[in-house]
Amino acid sequence: MSDEDEKWQRRLERERSARQTAERLLEEKSLELYLANQELRTFAAHLESEVDDRTAQLRRALSERELLLKEVHHRVKNNLQIIASLLGMQTDVHSATPLREVLLDSIYRVRAMALIHEQLYSRDDLSSIELGAYTESLARTLVGALEPRADLKLDTELITVPIGTALPCGLILNEVIANALKHGRSADGRCRLLITVLARDADLVVSVVDDGPGLREPWGKGANRSLGTRIIQALARQLRARIQTSEGPGFRFEMRLRVDTSTEIETVG
Ligand SMILES: Nc1ncnc2c1ncn2[C@@H]1O[C@H](COP(=O)(O)OP(=O)(O)O)[C@@H](O)[C@H]1O
Ligand SMILES: [Mg+2]
Repeated sequence: MSDEDEKWQRRLERERSARQTAERLLEEKSLELYLANQELRTFAAHLESEVDDRTAQLRRALSERELLLKEVHHRVKNNLQIIASLLGMQTDVHSATPLREVLLDSIYRVRAMALIHEQLYSRDDLSSIELGAYTESLARTLVGALEPRADLKLDTELITVPIGTALPCGLILNEVIANALKHGRSADGRCRLLITVLARDADLVVSVVDDGPGLREPWGKGANRSLGTRIIQALARQLRARIQTSEGPGFRFEMRLRVDTSTEIETVG
C-alpha cells in the first residue's frame, strides 16, 4: 500500500468513527427529546385537567353566589313588603286623621323600592333592571291603589339600567305618577295618563303626562314644594338628571339622564 493509500485509509477510518460518534450522540439526544416530550405531554394533560377542575369549581361558586344574591333580593323585597304591611296596619289606626295620607305615601314609596328588588331577582342579570317593565308594574300598582278607573297608556322601550340608577328613578316615578293620579283629574272627573320611557341618543328620557288642571304655581316652588317634590329634586340631583315641566292644559313632567359610566344605559331590541 502506498503512502498515499494509507493516508486515505486513515482518513476514512477517522471519518467513519466520527460518523459513528455523531450517530450515537444523535440517538442519545433523540431519546432525551422523546422522554422530554413524553414528560411535557403528561404535564400538559395534568394542567388541562387542573384547569377543568378549577373552571368547574369557579362555575359552581358563581352560580352559588348568584343564587345567594337572588335570595338576598328576595328577602329584601319581603322585608320591604312587611314594612309596607305594618304601615298599612297603622293607616287603619289613623284612618280618620291626616296621618293616614302620610302613611299611605310612605307605603307607596316602600312598595316602589320592593318592586325594584322583585324585578332584580326575577332576571338573570342581578345588577340591573328593565326600566320599561318596572315602570309599567309600578304604574299599574299605583293606579290600582289610587285611581282604579284611570286611563293608563304606556310607551316604553326595552331599556336596562343598573340598580344605582333604577332605585332613584323608581322613587321619582312613584312620586310623579302618584301626583298625576291624585291631582291630575280632568274636568270630567277622569284621570288620563301617558307614561313614556325612551332612549334618545345617549339619554334616558322618562315622561309622565296627565290632562288634569295643571299646577297653580310653578313646579318645585312655593306651595308646590312639599315632601314629594323635595324627594324628586334630591334624587334628580343624585342622578344628575334634568327635569322639565310644562303646563296647561294638564301637566307634563320630563326627566332626562345623560349616560355616563355611573349610569350605563343598555338598550335591547
Ligand atoms: N300632576 C299634577 N297635577 C296638578 N297638580 C299637581 C300635580 N303634581 C303636583 N301637583 C301640585 O303640586 C303639589 C306638590 O306636590 P307634592 O310635592 O308631590 O305633594 P303632595 O302630592 O303630597 O301634595 C301638589 O299638592 C299639587 O298641588
Ligand atoms: Mg305627591
